Amino acid sequence: MKSTGRHFLQIPGPTNVPDRVLRAMDRPVIDHRGPEFAALTGEVFEGMQSIFQTSSRVVIFPSSGTGAVEAALVNTLSPGDRVVIAETGFFSEQPWRRVARNLGVEVDYLPGNWRRGASPEAIEARLADDAARAVKAVIVVHNETSTGVASRVAEVRPAMDAAGHDALLLVDTISSLGSIDYRHDAWGVDVTVACSQKGLMLPPGLGFNAVSERALEASRTARLPRAYWDWGPILASNRDGAFPYTPPTNLLYGLREALDLLPAEGLDAVLARHARHAAATRRAVRAWGLELVPLDEREHSASLTAVFVPDGYDADEVRRLILDRYDVSLGAGLGRLAGRVFRIGHLGDLNDVWLAGALAGVEMGLTGAGVPIRPGGVQAAIDHLAATAGAPAAAGAAG
Ligand SMILES: Cc1ncc(COP(=O)(O)O)c(C=O)c1O
Repeated sequence: MKSTGRHFLQIPGPTNVPDRVLRAMDRPVIDHRGPEFAALTGEVFEGMQSIFQTSSRVVIFPSSGTGAVEAALVNTLSPGDRVVIAETGFFSEQPWRRVARNLGVEVDYLPGNWRRGASPEAIEARLADDAARAVKAVIVVHNETSTGVASRVAEVRPAMDAAGHDALLLVDTISSLGSIDYRHDAWGVDVTVACSQKGLMLPPGLGFNAVSERALEASRTARLPRAYWDWGPILASNRDGAFPYTPPTNLLYGLREALDLLPAEGLDAVLARHARHAAATRRAVRAWGLELVPLDEREHSASLTAVFVPDGYDADEVRRLILDRYDVSLGAGLGRLAGRVFRIGHLGDLNDVWLAGALAGVEMGLTGAGVPIRPGGVQAAIDHLAATAGAPAAAGAAG
């Protein structure tokens, strides 16, 4: 690997951590039962509510995203409960279906082809068939990180209402929070699952649940065994700015800094920046003559772009060459897309020139690996970036 200049971490999470956030964490550890810590937790809970767009309680766990997935399930469900999970890709399967099954939950896995998002129509049809009201929760991954397909979560609760079904709605925003528009309250979501290492621009280590009143009510009767993940003691301690176990103090300093940076840019501006970078990346891919994974124009992810390599080429070989020669890390194809797809992460801390540099690394690497592409991808991307620089937010999102 090259030793000069900066490494380009263009995987779809963990993402690049801004220097300001790194510096905010570089502090002495404090007493997690003292007044300074209590003030810190108050600030981060309030900040997280605005990112989730909710007035509901937010629970923070020292965990990866999978821990927050397990927490969402064990707090709301009982052994043998049925849930509907929309198949969107690797992450609807791992962790959601796997963890739910391991916990003893019955999973009704709505089939998908890994190139489309969750279908609100299919969810409505499945719930309309559930005359016995056996389904306790519907689960959707907002941004399927393995495919670069974003599901239309805003359409899910209306579809559930159309079926006359009042199941809980659980949504995974692990790779969308802070990079794609998301509204916990307005979209009728009961538990939103998130974590630190993607749009929030932090290292891995924090998991989140945003919890509606209905979800809290469900947690009072849910019978899956829970201890570490139990919302009850955590919410009770949080009222005094404390945790029932030792919290990751320095990560919370980082979170406070990130929650300062995002509103300083403006959440709308942050989302518009992601949409514009995604559009520029798609233009590069199309100019190269390569195929995008998403099939529906309405479902392109603003967080990452997943790209097929042509038959007969190995996406992992291409990634390896790009890392070795240009010090750019790209995401691997996962599950059934292994070796066929590479993923360009463009979420978190990024700017136009940084993206252009990463795309230049991809174009040089594809050429170096002998993949038959047309030249001009980087040019198409920078033409878009130049044409939309400083334009109103929506202008740069198309394409
Ligand atoms: C959509 C989605 N869900 C769940 C996970 C699992 O999160 P973690 O690896 O932090 O446990 C990931 C990880 O990338 C993800 O992208």
